[in-house]
Amino acid sequence: AYVINQPCIGTKDTSCVEVCPVDCIHPTPDEPDFDTAEQLYIDPEECIDCDACVEACPVDAITPEDQVPPEWQQYIEINAAFYRNR
Ligand code: SF4
Ligand code: F3S
Repeated sequence: AYVINQPCIGTKDTSCVEVCPVDCIHPTPDEPDFDTAEQLYIDPEECIDCDACVEACPVDAITPEDQVPPEWQQYIEINAAFYRNR
């Protein structure tokens, strides 16, 4: 699965949402929790590793799970945890 890392915080550009073919990035701008969400998150159970979101993100927030930099390792769990609470 792919992971949204720290640069999304404060940006939430949402270009990734528009290009994801399986709609596994949430919350989207039309969901009630979008305004309060610190960042967006990729559902690790639904992501098909297509790579489309990586190029779409203007702040390079997204990486494959096995390429998350050391300082952002916690974001693997942060993305997954969002979906356990939905
Ligand atoms: Fe969606 Fe593809 Fe990005 Fe996974 S890699 S979140 S399927 S756009
Ligand atoms: Fe965030 Fe980049 Fe998507 S800033 S909302 S991961 S396009």
